Amino acid sequence: MSRHLLDIETLPPGVAEALVQRAVALSGGASPERCEGEVALLFWEPSTRTRVSFELAARRVGLHPVVIDPSRSSSVKGESVEDTVATLAAMGIQALVVRHADAGTAARIAALPTTESVSVVNAGDGVNAHPSQALLDAATLIADGVDPAKLSILFFGDLRHSRVARSAASLYRRLGIRELRVAGPPEMMPDADDPIFRDAVRFRDLDEALAGVDAVNALRIQRERIVDLAISDGAEYHERWGLTLERAKRLPDHVRILHPGPVNRGIEIDARVIDDPRSLILRQVRMGVFLRMAVFEWLLGCRQPVPEA
Ligand code: NCD
Repeated sequence: MSRHLLDIETLPPGVAEALVQRAVALSGGASPERCEGEVALLFWEPSTRTRVSFELAARRVGLHPVVIDPSRSSSVKGESVEDTVATLAAMGIQALVVRHADAGTAARIAALPTTESVSVVNAGDGVNAHPSQALLDAATLIADGVDPAKLSILFFGDLRHSRVARSAASLYRRLGIRELRVAGPPEMMPDADDPIFRDAVRFRDLDEALAGVDAVNALRIQRERIVDLAISDGAEYHERWGLTLERAKRLPDHVRILHPGPVNRGIEIDARVIDDPRSLILRQVRMGVFLRMAVFEWLLGCRQPVPEA
């Protein structure tokens, strides 16, 4: 049976931890394993860093990536997701990296009889999950010396529509972090009975939420996933719910600042804070390639490189 990365919850015990550790090792110069075969990247939703990092990661472990732009594929002629992936599987690809606006798409694809011998990676499905982003964020913090057992991290902004925050909440629980905090406008907070956020400490005020944390993770207002938005995202939002320059100045030196990107400058985070020495945003992007290399190594059971004679 093929392995899949669909969400954090369905990963076998120990795998999330191993993927994070492997990404940290690769980022520190460990040799990548050698994989064989082809991987198709199928992104029905726009993406820059996730798509490019999967493509680079595939190349760096020896896979051949095939990037398919659904807006130029047979999808526009009415072909279903099922038929598109069956077509790719029939051509013999080993793995399929999928992003789609509908929650559950990656799991649906993995369950198809046509993809039996294909490993499926969820690169973001609606508001559901984005496991590789959560894994790379944890790897970035750990590579920077953070001990998960001591970590208090705050996610703030549009939690309700964030698949990154959902996957992170699951992952950080597995990693045994000290505290997960969430803060945002009421209409952007997770439901009170959402089991994924059952251990999270909820705040109604950003300044209170920021007091005493070791890391903060800003989230964009994910407009494309919001049906009717009553909130304006101008200066007022920034003042109340953004990581303003003033708020950043009040944070102690050891506090790490994260953002999965894409950033809406001046809304959830002040543009100057992005370049703050405490910001790990570009390190997250860099770690994204290493983490996705680790994902391919695990999914495809690749070989240790043979040392040169
Ligand atoms: C995130 C996503 O697509 O869910 N971006 C990413 O993959 N780096 C977050 C977002 O879109 O805001």
